[in-house]
Amino acid sequence: MKIVPDPVFSMPHSSPQLTAAPMEGLTTVVFRRLHAEMFGAADRYYLPFVTPTVEPRFTARQLRELAPRANEGLAVIPQLLTRRSADFLWAARALADMGYPEVNLNLGCPAGTVVVKGKGSGFLGDAIALREFFDDVFGQDLPIAVSVKTRLGLRSPDEFAGIVELYNLYPIARLIVHPRIRSDFYKGDARRSVLLSALPSIKAPLGVNGDIVTEGDIAAAGNAFAAAPGGLAEIMIGRALMADPALLRKARGGPAASRGEIRSFHHALFDAYTTLFESRKNAMMRLKEYWFYQSCLFGADDELEKLHRAMKAVNRTREPAEFNARIEDLIESFTLLQHARFGWRKPL
Ligand SMILES: Cc1cc2nc3c(=O)[nH]c(=O)nc-3n(C[C@H](O)[C@H](O)[C@H](O)COP(=O)(O)O)c2cc1C
Repeated sequence: MKIVPDPVFSMPHSSPQLTAAPMEGLTTVVFRRLHAEMFGAADRYYLPFVTPTVEPRFTARQLRELAPRANEGLAVIPQLLTRRSADFLWAARALADMGYPEVNLNLGCPAGTVVVKGKGSGFLGDAIALREFFDDVFGQDLPIAVSVKTRLGLRSPDEFAGIVELYNLYPIARLIVHPRIRSDFYKGDARRSVLLSALPSIKAPLGVNGDIVTEGDIAAAGNAFAAAPGGLAEIMIGRALMADPALLRKARGGPAASRGEIRSFHHALFDAYTTLFESRKNAMMRLKEYWFYQSCLFGADDELEKLHRAMKAVNRTREPAEFNARIEDLIESFTLLQHARFGWRKPL
């Protein structure tokens, strides 16, 4: 097993790491390997959340993502979604045994089925339970660092100051903030001003996330949050990396994606998912989820109506061969943009 050591544990860093956000169904082992190989690896890939249960072992399905061999050569941080410290602890120890240097706690997921159980962003609404959880977790001498990915609060951004006070009581390895509240889901704009106001009080090394779409946005976030007292450890990108797989490469001074690269990436994802699912139809369904974002790298302003129609046809397609033909056509016939359009933005 070989997971590249994360420099953050051995030396202070001046420029923030550029990391791939966890995205269920998208930043899978298939995506991570192909993305790293074809566009250059993110400084870290966070794994989509895993829910540990009372049964103290990972399922075969969870191990598909977690097995060290699946992540060889990449800096990968697994993420756990739970409000039970006992479940977190066995899973964290198991991940340490597998060689992972850090585990991330999900305090951001806004899904109704998660929040109703007091998990994800739902946990933010119960400060007493959250404190007990952290007392249990940090009271153990865990052989693995613990980082947190959080929203600003459950119901109101005003909750954030109190939540930060709570976080400051513990040696959290990194605090990654997606500055929305639960009820925002993914709508409206990230509430970056709330995070900026709280900045002086955040002790942990900071990660910023949310609505960072272009390399200009990455640079702007780097400047805006540079004064974080614990350092700006990372800028985390989710949906924009699905739209533009070359985004991190560009931010490091490299070239934009070519049509050929997007085509090769599409086919490589399609083939790898076909193998994984043993079904071209299921692979096609998965690829439709990528193309919801990926299509935002195509289409000049005057082509948007036509692109919209093309994507409708793509989504209606039931046959993998026809799907691939439509995608090939889209890649060839629309303008390839330098920067992804923020086409997935939804109003509040
Ligand atoms: C389809 C989808 C799946 C996601 N899955 C996870 C997840 O497993 N764990 C998590 O912490 N966040 C998850 N997120 C949230 C993202 O990691 C990220 O915080 C959010 O998309 C905002 O960042 P962005 O604007 O760069 O996309 C998910 C978001 C989407 C859209």
